[in-house]
Amino acid sequence: MTVATWSAPGKVFLFGEHAVVYGRPGIAMAVRPRVFVTVRKSRTAHHAKSPYIDNCFDEMGVRGSVYVNSQLPSSSGLGSSAAVTVATLAAINDEFGKKLQREDIANMAFAIEKKVQKGRASPTDTTVATFGGLVFITGLARRRLPPQNFQLVIGNSMVQHNTARMVEMVAELKTKSPEICEPVLEAIGAVSLSAMRALSDPVRLGELMNMNHALLDVLGVGHPQLSRLVLASRAAGAYGAKLTGAGGGGCMIAICPKHAKSRVVSAIEACDARAFSTTIDQEGVRKEKDA
Ligand code: PMV
Repeated sequence: MTVATWSAPGKVFLFGEHAVVYGRPGIAMAVRPRVFVTVRKSRTAHHAKSPYIDNCFDEMGVRGSVYVNSQLPSSSGLGSSAAVTVATLAAINDEFGKKLQREDIANMAFAIEKKVQKGRASPTDTTVATFGGLVFITGLARRRLPPQNFQLVIGNSMVQHNTARMVEMVAELKTKSPEICEPVLEAIGAVSLSAMRALSDPVRLGELMNMNHALLDVLGVGHPQLSRLVLASRAAGAYGAKLTGAGGGGCMIAICPKHAKSRVVSAIEACDARAFSTTIDQEGVRKEKDA
């Protein structure tokens, strides 16, 4: 009997979350760790607990069993649901000989995320999980950027957050105070564009991350624990740090000199949070092994 195991990377927003919802530019990157999904043909219906996985089987019109081994924390803004969806679709495609291309998998995964999340999804996570690397986003357009060897530390505040709720909060604030919100979203877009021009300069990127964090705080998507981790990272030698993803909890990232990474990890962990160091994952969804 054959099984197909495929993996897909997690993602971080380096710049531009929330502003991308309103067509402003943003930059996201694939990171380690990965999510591994094994699919096996079976006559009986599988019993996945995840609506993402159920939808993958429904969309592909097949039945099978599935085993997920995720090294990515879920519901923390690191794109674990997109990675699971993309890896599951690729594994089904392989196991059942469906002959879909990567682009088809990216599109199908985006449609599934959108459906499960009741219309609230940008193609960022599924694009990054499918193709890997560094990605520039504006509106629905996505472009791969030359890879950079950023030294990052990810801190998980362990505070639960809800992406849909945070997106809705920004929408409410925008209706209530458009004269304040619009320029802030515009400024976040300007930060992403400045970052595009400074991709090989981690010191400048750190400064820009600090600005991006402050602007996200203005939008009300900060959290005291995230700011604590951001401040601790900067004090431990990071070039800069910001929350990543929807905010209100979840994760933050710090860009660091290589030698300061372990100090930054310790500083975050000293704040009752989890931390790990990571760097770019250039590969998107890929086949792991056949058994
Ligand atoms: O928390 P995450 O990783 O799902 O990121 C959400 C990013 C937003 O810009 C707030 C929403 C989106 O779909 O881009």
